Amino acid sequence: MCGIVGYIGHREAYPILIKGLKRLEYRGYDSAGVALIGEDRQLNVYKAKGKVSDLEAFVSQKDVSGNVGIAHTRWATHGEPCAANAHPHYSSSQRLALIHNGIIENYAVLKEKLQAKGYTFRSSTDTEVLVQLIEYIQTVDNIDLLTAVQLALREVIGAYAIAVMDRDNPDEIVAARKSSPLVVGIGQDEFFLASDATPIVEYTDKVVYLEDEEIAVIRRGAPLKVVNLNNVECPHEIKTVSMNLGQLEKGGYPHFMLKEIFEQPDCIYDCMRGRINVEGTNVVLSAVIDYKERLLAANRFIIVACGTSWHAALIGKHLIESFCRIPVVVEYASEFRYQDPVIGSNDVVIAISQSGETADTLAAVELAKSRGAFIYGICNAIGSSIPRATHTGSYIHVGPEIGVASTKAFTGQVTVLTMLALTLAREKRTIDDAFYLSVVQELEQIPEKMKEVLKQNDRIAELSKIFTYAHNFIYLGRGYSYPVALEGALKLKEISYIHAEGYPAAEMKHGPIALVDAEMPVVVIATQNGLYEKVLSNIQEIKARKGRVIALVNKGDTVISRLADTCIELPETLECLEPLIATVPLQLMAYHIAVCKGMDVDQPRNLAKSVTVE
Ligand code: AGP
Ligand code: GLU
Repeated sequence: MCGIVGYIGHREAYPILIKGLKRLEYRGYDSAGVALIGEDRQLNVYKAKGKVSDLEAFVSQKDVSGNVGIAHTRWATHGEPCAANAHPHYSSSQRLALIHNGIIENYAVLKEKLQAKGYTFRSSTDTEVLVQLIEYIQTVDNIDLLTAVQLALREVIGAYAIAVMDRDNPDEIVAARKSSPLVVGIGQDEFFLASDATPIVEYTDKVVYLEDEEIAVIRRGAPLKVVNLNNVECPHEIKTVSMNLGQLEKGGYPHFMLKEIFEQPDCIYDCMRGRINVEGTNVVLSAVIDYKERLLAANRFIIVACGTSWHAALIGKHLIESFCRIPVVVEYASEFRYQDPVIGSNDVVIAISQSGETADTLAAVELAKSRGAFIYGICNAIGSSIPRATHTGSYIHVGPEIGVASTKAFTGQVTVLTMLALTLAREKRTIDDAFYLSVVQELEQIPEKMKEVLKQNDRIAELSKIFTYAHNFIYLGRGYSYPVALEGALKLKEISYIHAEGYPAAEMKHGPIALVDAEMPVVVIATQNGLYEKVLSNIQEIKARKGRVIALVNKGDTVISRLADTCIELPETLECLEPLIATVPLQLMAYHIAVCKGMDVDQPRNLAKSVTVE
């Protein structure tokens, strides 16, 4: 989620806030805004869709005076990108202004309660509910801002980093965090707030990183105060920032791609947030519930996508056919749009796209819609062209993906496809309760299991050095792991420029095994599942021809680990969730091989993050 900046002190706030937003632009966003309290105690809120420069143009003739203010770059999760949904959000009386990074899962319930008390809303965001709730509590209980924020946050379920100002109390800003990051910068008679240290470091290197459920009160002329939701003082360590700006933008990682690979556990949590109940026994995708009849009546699903999203589509096919017994066809969007496909009104077309702007996928959606199909989108960028062209859909909520090579979006897409298949299968009664529950409960374990795999990063970096010589790789997998083999090959190709092909493991003997020699690295996904013995045979065939086998195995595997040249051990999981685990080491291996080869990992040659042309 995006960017927060705040300032209170002796300087003009606006220049610091705007420059701070520009420091956070790398995180990707769709709109921006700023709130300032002027000398006349006027609370001025300015916001605009688009870039920070669009916001600057919008305020060029406006009053931007004041030495206290907050600013925000938004990555929309609830409510399309537009000025009304941009932050800061006013409270009803326009006395408060608030900015927020994160997702308020229970915003709908809270909104209904406030509407019942006569509150009206200017936006369709989850965030506006929070600022209205804070004002409501303040008004009813006649209490100060800090206490109202504490009481309000106790009612909130979800993730937040917030900052809120009260025009009647211009000497303070109250900020709080849970799951979304927030940093306090401590200067000489001035304080800074930001999502990370990049907007702060040019003014001070003294920072405090807030912990979950901590609230910071920054007041002119007073020391920093940090308390929890129960108003208990929290000890806080003042740290000195040593990283340079470039390092800070990537969260200390050398590349966005590595940062995004490591973000995956948190992103999968965000993807599931509000969709798996607190007890971990039930999945609810609201779009499926809203359009249940249409989806369940489908004769078949057609999934259209490109690149990595097409690989996710293959996994979606397996999940939906296996769980829901509905036929699924996976099509390259670029082919589908020109093959005059047979589409009926009983077809459901799923469009998968991280950017939501891929021209071929958008064209495929328009074609299918023109022929009466029902369109379901699975995208990341809220309010982008493809979601706007669909009848409904589910966002993956993994936050902006900056690296051209898609990583967290892939695992986010697979997670939503898994929840889609589970929700539909539950409605169709095509899987028994025990299996349904086992998948839901295992899905909740995936982020922790991903963290286990990520701990092998250094080892994977070391073994990757061995293979930088290669000019060709083969990736093999079966069943749910076949699309993972394709994805692993694509990752290597697009960032290291080494030719790589993914195949179904059994396909080797139908030609590709002719390629195998002592120089050829062959990556085999060989985790314990119904096809393990078959994959073992495939590995033996490769070893018989002196191929170099890199095997992904489950912890404790003693058979393949003796046969393969190198093994990467993975935590066990259900076969249908294997892609969420097995993909991670392949992402890391591609990354480290590319880095060893000195490639531009985040912006590989010839590639764009969003292919908006045919
Ligand atoms: C994947 O690493 C590539 N960047 C590319 O294949 C990408 O998946 C493809 O262009 C589709 O993009 P989309 O998901 O934004 O539609
Ligand atoms: N969920 C909020 C919104 O959609 C905040 C999004 C963000 O983190 O930028 O407005």
